[in-house]
Amino acid sequence: MFNTEENIYGNLLNGKWIHNKENLIHIKSPINGELVGSIHAMSREEVDEAINIAKKAQKEWALVPTNEKSKILHNVADLLEERAEEIAKIMVLEIAKDNKSAISEVKRTADFIRFTAETAENIKGESLPGDSFPGFKNDKISIVTREALGVVLAISPFNYPVNLAASKIAPALMAGNSVVFKPATQGAISGLYLAKAFKDAGLPDGLINTITGRGSEIGDYVVTHKDTDFVNFTGSSEIGKRISRITEMKPILMELGGKDAAIVLDDADLDLAAKNIVAGAFSYSGQRCTAVKRVLVTDYVSDTLVEKIVEEMKKVTYGSPLEGNFTVGPLIDTKSADFVEGLIKDAVDKGATLLAGGTREGNIIAPTLFDNVTVDMRIAWEEPFGPVLPIIRVRNMEEAIKIANESEYGLQSSIFTKDINKAFYVASKLEVGTVQVNNKTERGPDHFPFLGVKSSGMGVQGIRYSIEAMSRVKATVINLK
Ligand code: NAP
Ligand code: G3P
Repeated sequence: MFNTEENIYGNLLNGKWIHNKENLIHIKSPINGELVGSIHAMSREEVDEAINIAKKAQKEWALVPTNEKSKILHNVADLLEERAEEIAKIMVLEIAKDNKSAISEVKRTADFIRFTAETAENIKGESLPGDSFPGFKNDKISIVTREALGVVLAISPFNYPVNLAASKIAPALMAGNSVVFKPATQGAISGLYLAKAFKDAGLPDGLINTITGRGSEIGDYVVTHKDTDFVNFTGSSEIGKRISRITEMKPILMELGGKDAAIVLDDADLDLAAKNIVAGAFSYSGQRCTAVKRVLVTDYVSDTLVEKIVEEMKKVTYGSPLEGNFTVGPLIDTKSADFVEGLIKDAVDKGATLLAGGTREGNIIAPTLFDNVTVDMRIAWEEPFGPVLPIIRVRNMEEAIKIANESEYGLQSSIFTKDINKAFYVASKLEVGTVQVNNKTERGPDHFPFLGVKSSGMGVQGIRYSIEAMSRVKATVINLK
């Protein structure tokens, strides 16, 4: 039984929904505080059981032909599409994502899973002749293939509880691994609906096992567990750095925080820049790692760009996701809203020009725009994960690059210019994983490499990259005598 009449959700262990009504965590909606459902806070012993199940099931799964794995994942994708509206309803209540964006996330996840299955079917090995290296004869050949790692621990963030879970689970499975899935607590029910789709689609028992509970209580234990063979984590830089410290030699893949800059040069198309900056900064209330989180604009065009951004912001709607598909809604919790409000207050106290927003109603912060932000203000450097956009005016392109690179983060940046040479020059100088030319910062399409450097992450995601990250090379050398 997936959930009880009182909306207590079980954990998927060895193909069964297991309920434990002790130590319940009651998940309440950020919209109105109403109970969405309850999950069990697992003990270490229960985590051990989940990992042991995954370890046993993985051995057989690694031997299943890729084309059979692929069929199962296609079934998962089909089920997700059928259930998109049902799952979206939960997401709206659980993470205050608007219904349209929630449905889009589920459908994007179905596409992701299909593309992952097809990509895995086409991953090739290689063979290397020995005599291409000096001193060797043509009597050696290395056959290079890939092997699974074992048990992958998938830890997902609240803001994409379905997509950023599947972005770990699907490639892990196609690479021959089994999965222990720890969803974000606020978003756990949405994540359990994803796990249900895998089970209902015919994934053999034990290949995906969920572990619900607060990361602060079971996180360290599960990431350092002797039978966790790989950690695939998406979340804050603070937690990511902690995981990196305590996992020692364990292979990990991490997508962390960001402070993505939109750099606007003298020759930019300012209408295009304003439209992309506003869309990139405020969608899902700015609760995206790839949100535009600062604008660096050259003095020559700054007045005009600011005017255009102010105009564009007038189209940014905000309100309760129960009443419409608003761009901005309640932040995930009061602590987050308090943090964002603190950044706003700091900017005002230090003399930034407030051009829009700056107000709060409950956990809804009105879309907020600051001009004349200076580098002594917290909003210039900290990740708000909320609907606040600072504009920093710079003298020239070189100063924009300097300030952009002084951030501890290095996820993405945008560069707006009509000069392709300048675009490539700036891109070559920026310490980030991805540079968007004349577009907002964003992760999709999902087969593109997606990575953060510095405090924004370790390793590369993106479908093929994820499959390769969660598998290892095996070289078999044939010695011909
Ligand atoms: P978070 O607080 O770091 O939590 C992320 C996940 O880690 C949750 O499942 C959380 O569980 C778990 N966790 C907490 N403490 C842990 C520990 N000690 N060991 C292992 N896991 C632990 O992040 P969030 O609030 O969900 O997401 C917002 C942050 O994630 C932002 O900084 C954002 O930039 C970043 N993010 C980055 C990307 C990207 O692709 N680069 C995407 C989305 C979000 P609980 O929920 O139970 O605490
Ligand atoms: O924060 C989630 C990150 O993966 C952003 O995805 O598609 O909104 O750019 P996207």
